[in-house]
Amino acid sequence: METVWLNGKFLPAAEATVPVLDRGFIFGDGVYEVVPVFGSHILRFEEHLRRLGQSLAAIYMQSPHSDTEWGAIIDGLLERNPCGRDRSVYLHVTRGVAPREHVIRAPLTPTVFGMCTPIPERNYDTGLSVITHADIRWQYCDIKAISLLPGVLLRERARRADGSTEAVLLRDGVVTEGAASNVFVVSAGAVRTPAKSNHLLPGVTRDLVVELLRGADMSCSEGPISEAELRTADEIWITSSTMGIAPVTRLDGKPVGDGRPGRIWQTADRVYQEYKLKVSANTAPGPGLNRSAR
Ligand SMILES: Cc1ncc(COP(=O)(O)O)c(C=O)c1O
Repeated sequence: METVWLNGKFLPAAEATVPVLDRGFIFGDGVYEVVPVFGSHILRFEEHLRRLGQSLAAIYMQSPHSDTEWGAIIDGLLERNPCGRDRSVYLHVTRGVAPREHVIRAPLTPTVFGMCTPIPERNYDTGLSVITHADIRWQYCDIKAISLLPGVLLRERARRADGSTEAVLLRDGVVTEGAASNVFVVSAGAVRTPAKSNHLLPGVTRDLVVELLRGADMSCSEGPISEAELRTADEIWITSSTMGIAPVTRLDGKPVGDGRPGRIWQTADRVYQEYKLKVSANTAPGPGLNRSAR
């Protein structure tokens, strides 16, 4: 049975319970991270923990654990859940249990939860279908908040529209990101992704893709992508820790480019897959995973 981490203990998922007055349950008052593990290698461990720290600071919380402690929690979850080669570790921190009132009365003891799930093998031969949608979310999208109802509704709208996988979001006429991914477009050979702002999550995969493209001497700029640019793009990609770089071949039911995963996506994905192989080959299996290999 699946083993999870809750407030200092590893225990079977069925035995892990949280009080109903937890502010995470009542208000969605908390933040989370999803850390991908390929083979034995935790990809971009420091970057994920840094973003967790930033999300916590943005909601007036301190990290309940040091990086070493988080590393031990991740290692423990991986050891206890041998559920496939590639896995993701979900870390979730809420403000804790308190009488139900909006104001935060410190000090509270945070609730810390972690679980491990397999990352399914992806086949992007035919690419993904996505819809566009108004960005209906709030102004703090750079915080990885657990209150995900807008994201849930957006992905559900995509599914109900035409079985699409993702909603690409438009705010004031420009692309922000996907409901749970970052967006790249390719026009006339040039790759572009929206610059970081409070309107999008600073994706760890996004940053890695920008770094890898530049390292491979491929042009990649960060800046506004208009709706017109999105609709006429030769290629669209969406990125996340669990999807990697996914080619989009249909946008609102119409083909993107020639309707097949693009040539530049193929190069970008090859560079990304090679990078993952290189870092996981440098990592010894077992406890004390080598997290800093680049
Ligand atoms: C809203 C949003 N944007 C972007 C991403 C991609 O971020 P990362 O590459 O760090 O997984 C996610 C991941 O779940 C997300 O929820």
